[in-house]
Amino acid sequence: MRLTILGGGGFRVPLVYGALLTDRAEGRVTEVVLHDLDDGRLRAVARVLAEQATAVADAPRVTVTTDLDEALRGADFVFSAIRVGGLEGRAADERVALAQGVLGQETVGAGGIAYGLRTVPVAVDIARRVARLAPDAWVINFTNPAGLVTEAMSRHLGERVIGICDSPVGLGRRIARVLGAHPNEAWIDYVGLNHLGWVRGLRVAGRDQLPRLLADDDLLGSFEEGKLFGVDWLRSLGAIPNEYLHYYYFNREAVRAYQQAEKTRGAFLRDQQARFYANARHADISALDLWDRTRAEREATYMSENRQTAGAGERDADDLSGGYEKVALALMRAIARDERATLILNVRNRGTLSVLDTDAVIEVPCLVDANGAHPVAVDPLPDHATGLVCAVKAVEREVLAAAESGSRATAVKAFALHPLVDSVNVARRLVEGYTAVHPGLSYLA
Ligand code: G6P
Ligand code: MN
Repeated sequence: MRLTILGGGGFRVPLVYGALLTDRAEGRVTEVVLHDLDDGRLRAVARVLAEQATAVADAPRVTVTTDLDEALRGADFVFSAIRVGGLEGRAADERVALAQGVLGQETVGAGGIAYGLRTVPVAVDIARRVARLAPDAWVINFTNPAGLVTEAMSRHLGERVIGICDSPVGLGRRIARVLGAHPNEAWIDYVGLNHLGWVRGLRVAGRDQLPRLLADDDLLGSFEEGKLFGVDWLRSLGAIPNEYLHYYYFNREAVRAYQQAEKTRGAFLRDQQARFYANARHADISALDLWDRTRAEREATYMSENRQTAGAGERDADDLSGGYEKVALALMRAIARDERATLILNVRNRGTLSVLDTDAVIEVPCLVDANGAHPVAVDPLPDHATGLVCAVKAVEREVLAAAESGSRATAVKAFALHPLVDSVNVARRLVEGYTAVHPGLSYLA
């Protein structure tokens, strides 16, 4: 079986390859094709993978290419993990927004809109090529903002594109752990959009255990979300929000912390990864060791400003490795081998949330088999959550419309309608600022 990874020179590719190396079963991936625009990055990552494969019998064969069509032909699965504009682009997304006093973050608020506007045209081009060159392939989208990008691609690939994120899994795992339940025996009632969802219940043997957690100060304050949001707020909500909702519920504090940070997240990662790719070339050092140290530092500093404003302290050792490669592998196995699984994924709504139309991509538990991902029925969200979900989905639709038409006015509308952008004038200045720094936005006329 052949797996093509777009963004194959990306920093997290060794996580995926490492997961593939643990898979010994019949029908596993035997061939990995890495595609990237940057040959140097491809070579650095290929060196890491070669070291990972040492002493592993029958490790998947790795080839690299900068030719997209060649990479797609013959693929059974395509992982799309691209970053349009690179980490320099991510840093600019943050900088321009923060200069206007609004949130600059990869997926949430103004920064996420800017990143979406740059990424959607490229993702659509990829989707069209997959439809033409590899019509039977399944596309698993890792590219952020994952919900929006998956929806853009689904207009060309239908249900053959599925978006993934490890945040809901991590959240479910943490809640199960504090409740003393095994994650595999727990049903996690989670729904929303990507980076905008809530756990409303966790059932074990048919009984909801979340009330027990919400009633217990010690348990509730003992894990990441409890520390981040505070026990009182979680109790008021009666649910545990995805960590990215910290940017909404504590927006003022998050914006201030990001403005005051020595480096924004994007700038930190840009510099960290520049060092990694420069040094991974040297033949006398282990590219794998270097990668591993760099990865550990990245994971330890994830959302550190948010944790600081909340006084949440260091990350829990158990939370350090997110596991998005595990979600991707579980999804691929379930489809390829008809190994039924339940996974929280980004798929078309198809009536799951009645307030959204059928094609809106949402994040929801799905039953997965050889026919793809089937969202399960869930209870409706409370009004406050429905309000946020509908507002953000409306913004995503404006982003998709702007990417299709090239209309600057539509791009302004996308920013202006976002709940975290507090003035139409700010939205206008954001479009000015972003088009001035991003070549990838030159299509906005
Ligand atoms: C979480 C999010 C991902 C994000 C990742 C890395 O897992 O769900 O969407 O890509 O963190 O974040 P970072 O800030 O390290 O790039
Ligand atoms: Mn994510």
